[in-house]
Amino acid sequence: MTGRSETRAVSRRRLLTGGALTVGGAVAGAAGGIAATAAGRQPAPPPAPAPTASTATGTDVESFHGRHQAGIATEPQAHAAFVAFTLRQGVDRAALGRLMRLLTDDAVRLTQGRAPLADTEPELAVLPARLTITFGFGPGLYAAAGRDDRRPPSVAALPKFAIDKLQPAWSGGDLLIQICADDPLTVTHAQRMLVKDSRPFASVRWVQTGFRRSRGAQAPGHTQRNVMGQLDGTANPLPGTAAFEQSVWINDGPAWLRDGSTLVLRRIRAELETWDKLGRTDKELAVGRRLDTGAPLSGQQEHDEPDFSALNEAGLPVMPDFAHVTRARVSDDRLKILRRPYNYDLPPDAAGEADSGLIFAAYQADIDRQYLPIQRRLAERDLLNDWITPIGSAVFAIPPGCEPDGWIGERLLA
Ligand code: HEM
Repeated sequence: MTGRSETRAVSRRRLLTGGALTVGGAVAGAAGGIAATAAGRQPAPPPAPAPTASTATGTDVESFHGRHQAGIATEPQAHAAFVAFTLRQGVDRAALGRLMRLLTDDAVRLTQGRAPLADTEPELAVLPARLTITFGFGPGLYAAAGRDDRRPPSVAALPKFAIDKLQPAWSGGDLLIQICADDPLTVTHAQRMLVKDSRPFASVRWVQTGFRRSRGAQAPGHTQRNVMGQLDGTANPLPGTAAFEQSVWINDGPAWLRDGSTLVLRRIRAELETWDKLGRTDKELAVGRRLDTGAPLSGQQEHDEPDFSALNEAGLPVMPDFAHVTRARVSDDRLKILRRPYNYDLPPDAAGEADSGLIFAAYQADIDRQYLPIQRRLAERDLLNDWITPIGSAVFAIPPGCEPDGWIGERLLA
């Protein structure tokens, strides 16, 4: 043992055995003594400021009632749980009506920071942190309700694509509850309450939890990065614009679904081990945008319009023909989709290889007209396909919102 470590050992023993003081008291006393000697009789430093109404965001509330369900046009919260259910045998329209009345009541309370009835941990409900709870009806729900004639034709399993390696464990579902909030404990509590009340009517089929940047980590309006490191969401339609209104909300079609939407939820694994081996330039060519700024390869800034006719010195397109952005591009505003993805990250496997990717949530008025043509083009040819694999797929109609005297799904199930 060196002299220095002996000294450290001695002083540590003294601290731990010092007189009749407890360990905590000895440490606190010693630290206080050092401070007093070094700085005379200086006052103790002020305690860290308690969060004030302007800095704490746990009490922030998103309204539940309205024409549209919340959780789609809402600025994406940091955490999400997508919970899919299989309806139990014998659950009919009347039972579905009871279930949706109950779940709507739970959602109204939880999103407003109030405990639902029979909440055994009501303290967990007081910080909603912009909680939204959004309900979706999957392909099997309509027949159970005796309303198969009202199922929008495109609310059905997507056609099989060559790139798919779908796992039943992440696919399908009769009912979806999408729970989003800026706080993970809030999401967990809401999920438990909603699953508990659904139990007599439906069993949980799968749960997918995901995350984005924490609220406050960057100024609002910034595009988030996904686990592959790309800025993801740049070319989305913006809430409040005509493009958003036309492309996301159902303005015609079945009367019960007006002001609703549809959701395609794909679980897409990111092949991070092979992605890591790719050079930066190749990563940028695969997407057609720069990794640092998110600018199209033909431009300077994130929101510059890509110029698909630009050529480089060799006469080749600056935006490769098979880059993700080139293949996914839609110029007609009415045919765009809203992407509101969450990252997922499960523990690495025994070899230490990542299990991460995207819970890719796309909202559009019409899956056939909007989502499918893009997905077909991407499945057919997209440079990014070598590093992404769809492993789950589910489709839901998102009923319109409701007013305080109504409930979600009323126009279909009442
Ligand atoms: C893990 C899977 C995926 C990743 C990592 C990914 C990543 C990206 C990135 C980085 C961009 C460029 C920035 C932006 O506008 O957001 C982009 C754009 C886009 N992606 Fe994906 N994407 C994925 C899957 C999909 C899928 C499944 C679809 C639809 C079927 C899709 C549709 C689009 C569309 C429509 C754009 C905008 C194209 C434009 O008009 O500029 N993406 N994606």
